[in-house]
Amino acid sequence: MKKNMINIQPAILYAALLFTACKTSRHSSLSSSVNPYQYSIQKKVVAENGAVVSAHPLASQVGVEILKKGGNAIDAAIATQLALAVVYPNAGNIGGGGFMVARLANGELLALDYREKAPGAAHRDMYLDPDGTPRTDKSRDGHLSAGVPGTVAGLFAAHRYGKLPFRELIEPAIQLAEKGFAITENEAGALNRLQDDLRKFNTIPPVFIKSQWKPGDTLIQKDLARTLMRIRDNGLAGFYEGETARLIVEEMQRGGGIITYEDLKNYKAVYRKPHVFTYKGYDIVSMPMPSSGGVLLNQMMKMIEDKNIAAMGFQTTQSVQLMIEVKRRAFADRAKYMGDPDFYKVPVEQLCSPSYLKERMRDYSPDKATPSSEVKAGIIAGYESEETTHLSVIDKYGNAVAVTTTLNNSYGSRTVVGHAGFFLNDEMDDFSIKPGVPNMFGAVGGEANAIQPGKRMLSSMTPTIVLKDKKPFLVLGTPGGTTIPTQIFQTLVNILEFNMSTEDAVYKPKFHHQWLPDEVYLERGFPEEVKKNLEKMGYRFGRERFGIGRTEIIKVLADGKFEAVADIRGDDDARGY
Ligand code: GLY
Repeated sequence: MKKNMINIQPAILYAALLFTACKTSRHSSLSSSVNPYQYSIQKKVVAENGAVVSAHPLASQVGVEILKKGGNAIDAAIATQLALAVVYPNAGNIGGGGFMVARLANGELLALDYREKAPGAAHRDMYLDPDGTPRTDKSRDGHLSAGVPGTVAGLFAAHRYGKLPFRELIEPAIQLAEKGFAITENEAGALNRLQDDLRKFNTIPPVFIKSQWKPGDTLIQKDLARTLMRIRDNGLAGFYEGETARLIVEEMQRGGGIITYEDLKNYKAVYRKPHVFTYKGYDIVSMPMPSSGGVLLNQMMKMIEDKNIAAMGFQTTQSVQLMIEVKRRAFADRAKYMGDPDFYKVPVEQLCSPSYLKERMRDYSPDKATPSSEVKAGIIAGYESEETTHLSVIDKYGNAVAVTTTLNNSYGSRTVVGHAGFFLNDEMDDFSIKPGVPNMFGAVGGEANAIQPGKRMLSSMTPTIVLKDKKPFLVLGTPGGTTIPTQIFQTLVNILEFNMSTEDAVYKPKFHHQWLPDEVYLERGFPEEVKKNLEKMGYRFGRERFGIGRTEIIKVLADGKFEAVADIRGDDDARGY
């Protein structure tokens, strides 16, 4: 047994990696520069040829190795996601879904939707008792909370724009699953906290069950390795048909879930038109419906555009108050109007039109809180009616990729498909299970986001690319449920308006408001004086949050180099070459 190095950089003190390795042998097909038993966390890099930022150092390293082998940013994003499915099972996944926003070297803009779907047997009231009592336990835990997974379909759909064979992109993940990797202190803690749920929500004990996980323990996932090999050998059918489909359906039958062979075979990822808007000369490219992210970001940015927020200053009472008020208004619209556009006509154009947004701010007062009870969704004429993960990648060819992917809760439904080794999502909770009943993020909804068979549940994920002179300038995203759009909003305002360094823009404490509940959430470290001033103006505060999100960002510097910054709120890691 070999003691690993303790590698603590000043910037990562509270994400410090401290572990003892159980193995020292190399993985034959991982590059020799990737050692899964001994690694450290790097929070920032400036690179010339390409960069990857993700939630785990091994996944970021795998992505960079793919770039070095001649892959492009799409290839690297695929390989990084697959590696995350192994080394970051909290949110990295093949049993969940996600979104990819990309800007290709030829200038083309892409938005790929591989969000989970409600199974064919799902129905509007499936999480209500006969007397109408909502059963959020069933929408959040175990088999019935799982939507039809979209990630594998998304990876293959993205690969249309890749350069390297898919086999090469999945191989590092297979090796990491088969031979194992040393888990970090954060991972050991998360797995220890998960033990009761693992016993409760599984029909076959998964490898994650153990009396005590320690930092540096090796996590080997043989079942997952075999599933990844079936995907490698059979493509989409390696997941949505054959052995893996059989294992998923049998798991459903053992645990009272409803996903069928047909649901799996019929799942398709779709390319959608990216949501694009301009802000003071920048083009901001983000995710359209069924994510609320792009529209919310657009609404919030446009509601502040004429307010000279730069003059108010970073985290002053004035600027924070303005930002809370625009968040409140955007989220009121989310609750009423947003859902899967394949099932519900979302009035995107109206919601983002200058006249509508001006009207939304008519009752804004810079001196006091506007209670959420007085802020309803806007009126549209003729209208009827935490745990996720992000990765950002860029390459020297001009491709930029932002991917946010999720199981919803940390470890999703906490149900692992027996003998297939991967967690299923609990994304069904992102639907509105009953009008006015909050989901796990406290967000409410109605008709637009009601459950229907085959429908995608509304998301907040906001993978975003900012273009300057039509070229990539920022590539960013974050996990965090409903805090995702408000964090992206803050990070962009910090950089574009307050001229902050990339690290400060990400690391400084964040704040959040989402209309309902009518409370402001502050991250630990937020200035006490600003809070007191806001209290005097009528704002109420929810429980202080230890950390809000984990933003991964790449900025293209004036000299063309890539500055990649990983959030300090976790094991997040930035690599480049
Ligand atoms: N599951 C979180 C989201 O999609 O917003």
